Amino acid sequence: MKKTDILVIGAGIAGLTFAIKIAEKRKDLTITVLTKTNRSESNTRYAQGGVAAVWNKDIDTYEKHIADTLDAGDGLCDKEVVEIVVKEGPIRVKEIINWGTRFDKTKDDDYDLGMEGGHSEYRILHYKDLTGWEIQRALVEKAQTYKNIEIFDHFFAVDLITQHQLGRVVTRVTPNVACYGAYVLDLETRTIETINAKTTIVCTGGAGQIYRNTTNPVIATGDGIAMVYRAKGRLENMEFVQFHPTALYNPAGENPDFLVSEAVRGFGAILKTQDGKEFMQKYDERLSLAPRDIVARAIDNEMKTRGDDYLCLDCQHLDKEAFIKHFPTIYDKCMSLGIDPFKQMIPVVPAAHYLCGGVKTDQIGRSSVQRLYACGECTSSGLHGANRLASNSLLEAMVFAHRIAKDVLENIDDYDWMEGIPGWNAKSTTDPKEMVLITQSNKELKEIMSSYVGIVRSNVRLNRAKDRLTLLYRETEQLYSTTTLSPQLCELRNMITIGYLVTSSAAMRRESRGLHYTTDYPEQMDYIETMIL
Ligand code: FAD
Ligand code: SIN
Repeated sequence: MKKTDILVIGAGIAGLTFAIKIAEKRKDLTITVLTKTNRSESNTRYAQGGVAAVWNKDIDTYEKHIADTLDAGDGLCDKEVVEIVVKEGPIRVKEIINWGTRFDKTKDDDYDLGMEGGHSEYRILHYKDLTGWEIQRALVEKAQTYKNIEIFDHFFAVDLITQHQLGRVVTRVTPNVACYGAYVLDLETRTIETINAKTTIVCTGGAGQIYRNTTNPVIATGDGIAMVYRAKGRLENMEFVQFHPTALYNPAGENPDFLVSEAVRGFGAILKTQDGKEFMQKYDERLSLAPRDIVARAIDNEMKTRGDDYLCLDCQHLDKEAFIKHFPTIYDKCMSLGIDPFKQMIPVVPAAHYLCGGVKTDQIGRSSVQRLYACGECTSSGLHGANRLASNSLLEAMVFAHRIAKDVLENIDDYDWMEGIPGWNAKSTTDPKEMVLITQSNKELKEIMSSYVGIVRSNVRLNRAKDRLTLLYRETEQLYSTTTLSPQLCELRNMITIGYLVTSSAAMRRESRGLHYTTDYPEQMDYIETMIL
């Protein structure tokens, strides 16, 4: 058994920012950070557009950023949380700049602020179209300078430890459930370690991989959310899955789908049909820069009514030199597929991009389980409501990492390690005989979610998804109880849980709001309801 003061599950922007903040203040605390692949791979690494923050106070105000966030969130944001994130955001951005993160500047040495859908001002700080790569690089380098931060690559968290493992019956209404660390699969030795922690922070990112088409890397399987659910923590808003309107259409198929940043539309690119006609005027007066839920639904509708496999993003009228300077990765990717953005339109399709729901946290990032915090995309903090405003998630992770660190520093000395945690019980399990059982179920899950729980939903589709998912769940639980653990099996089990929670929450919402659109209830209810699981 390994003992650590603080266990951080995940090394994206949320986990690393938190770890650095603790290490800065307390050299005596041991901080264990886990990644299930390596420390450079995360959703964070792929962020393109940038970080939204009120920066140029001559033109922008907190009130405008707050109003844009609330407008995108379609009635379900927690206004106090929105104010906290918008107002504390710029200080947190300055911190990561001081830690070595670079953002592009203009000739006058001011930060070059970009525009994205749903924003009323230019406020997106970015590093070319590689903002996430740059943030991940700077945070990993900074974290590695602290002796008391130990990053363990290829350590897969399987389950959180609560009183349940100590023999108590724990339900979602049991009071004082607390977390004492996690069982973790060491992918090199294939053994399950017990990590006994005084405090645990789940920073495991999103779950885009439950869909066939997603911009999320293969690590995005919702592990942390599923673990908290099994530990009887509260989740909310799981029905709100954000589809990015413009993933690059690649008939050869790729996982993940390559993103064509919304910043490209902020730069002047226009959405068109394959025959070159603009269509967004039919859906929203903000045209190609309307919030994501509106644009993704419009594209989905146009594709279905026209019977087209993709729509297009027209960049041909833009300044080529400036475009290549700002979007070198997107330009190179298009050219590598034989698409010259200055000679033809870029083919695009919507793809699953961001989970707005997740572990329900309070204003300090605490979950409903004691000694357990959550930060970043795995949470439902109240910021995004029914639809996240572009480039608000990196900001959210930084603001909550700071708040959680402050709370942990205030409380950690009152905690001790839990005695008597049993080791993982792997008795009566054997090595899997056929991996095909796992890979096939994985494909089925993606098909079910894409066909029945996508951009447009209905009662019939959701019921069908639930039936199919129940079968997959039973088969996978059977496999789980008899087979030696592998990351593939754990991920499948977690993804089925997430798929089921998204579907159940969607079925409970008898209205259309934000990212949830159902043909059975196309209107909004006149009261606001939050789906808590
Ligand atoms: P992640 O960065 O995803 O990190 C998750 C970490 O958890 C990883 O280290 C992973 O190894 C670890 N992990 C997961 N499961 C386990 C497990 N079982 N055991 C151990 N470790 C585990 N947002 C913006 O604000 N602006 C943007 O411009 C932007 N662009 C985006 C572009 C793309 C293509 C994508 C996919 C997302 C984009 N987003 C953007 C969203 C944003 O990048 C993410 O929401 C954010 O980076 C999530 O950070 P995180 O720290 O919560 O999780
Ligand atoms: C993008 O660059 O379009 C992604 C921005 C985001 O998801 O916030």
